[in-house]
Amino acid sequence: MFLFALACTGAEPDPAETDGPLYYEDVAPILADNCVSCHQEGQIAPFYLVDYDSVSVVGSQIADSVTDRRMPPFLADNSGECNTYEHAAWLEDDEIATIVDWVDAGMPEGDPANAPELPAAPTGLEERATHSLVMDTPYIADFEGADDDYRCFIIDPGLTEDGYVTAFEIDPGDPEIVHHVIVYHPSDEAALASAYELEEDAGGNGYTCFGGPNVDSSMVAAWAPGRMIWDYPEGTGIKVEAGMPLIVQMHYNNGGTSNEDATTVNFEIQPEVDEELISFFWVNSDIAIPPGEELHEESQKTSFKNYTGYSGDLDILGVGPHMHSIGHSEYAEVQFKDTDETACLVDVPRWDFNWQFAYMFEERIRVSGGDKLLLECNYDSSDRTDTTYWGDGTGDEMCLLTLYVTVPQ
Ligand code: HEC
Repeated sequence: MFLFALACTGAEPDPAETDGPLYYEDVAPILADNCVSCHQEGQIAPFYLVDYDSVSVVGSQIADSVTDRRMPPFLADNSGECNTYEHAAWLEDDEIATIVDWVDAGMPEGDPANAPELPAAPTGLEERATHSLVMDTPYIADFEGADDDYRCFIIDPGLTEDGYVTAFEIDPGDPEIVHHVIVYHPSDEAALASAYELEEDAGGNGYTCFGGPNVDSSMVAAWAPGRMIWDYPEGTGIKVEAGMPLIVQMHYNNGGTSNEDATTVNFEIQPEVDEELISFFWVNSDIAIPPGEELHEESQKTSFKNYTGYSGDLDILGVGPHMHSIGHSEYAEVQFKDTDETACLVDVPRWDFNWQFAYMFEERIRVSGGDKLLLECNYDSSDRTDTTYWGDGTGDEMCLLTLYVTVPQ
């Protein structure tokens, strides 16, 4: 009897006595905070990460994805080497080590009684929403011969007075196929007319658009799944004009069953803000990417005065890097004229067209007209047979940085 009892204890070590990480105690809380918003039922990610069974079947994939920082999707380096951002979806090095050590140790389960609470369903803007863009006619995403469908819809928010977008949320019609949504404000009536022409040529209910809306415009909102409400920095908002319809660019992927979508964009639009947040595209369109190069750099250095025509001070509050499918990495810094110092705005070591975010700085950066912006875009053109130039098409490229600025009073 005595011997038998001893043998039993030996075969089943008490989980509390292993000192490596355990699923419920150490790994599940990291996943609950950083992964579950997308990896759960009805959301964009293709599988769930909600309990021991769903996580342990993909354990080594998870370890790889966090080691390479492919997941959670957040392309800008937030380590502080370059910059740090509001709402950064960024794992700390020790969190990555916990996941990797747990997988290496054979994924011990721990005690389900210690399971963390999964994040509550996020709440939306609710009564804060003042205006909406509603797709009246549902659109059936077209995945014939392609994994992705990019479509622009022209929708009027019904503004009777100019106002400022201070926050927005997207209510995806079919969350399983809505990958990202970008809302553009046409620059003027002529730009709007061109958009209507494109829609007419496409036979109605939107038009195909890949890298942007294909007409002169600025960005009002950029959304990717994982967060409900996107607030602009306190006291700031992006101007929208009365009577001007907006262009909603939808990126659909992961074709599902019905593929029918009618997405709504809700805005909080206020009549006044302390500071107008101006979004504009900083563009290096003078690019020629020769074929067959694993790493080809296009860089451009221009002073703010030369680029904007404005010689006074500007505060940079955030940026949105943008390239197309052969983009490899993007980097931007300010070089201050008076001190020879630099300030890193954004470093995207691994570009991914699927995840386009706006990155709002934890601390704004003030520049003056004579300071310069260095914008570097790198491409991998190994699969191309011809030179790639700037353009809107899937086979064209861009080297672009959306800048979110205010003009200090
Ligand atoms: C913002 C939504 C979102 C969040 C947050 C997120 N994922 Fe994902 N994940 C996706 C989507 C969508 C895919 C499908 C592939 C793609 O589109 O990149 C995916 C794919 C994956 C894959 C398979 C592809 C690959 O790159 O290895 C793994 C593994 C993964 N996620 C793990 C995680 C882990 C672990 C976390 C948290 C640390 C996480 N994900 C957080 C949306 C998300």
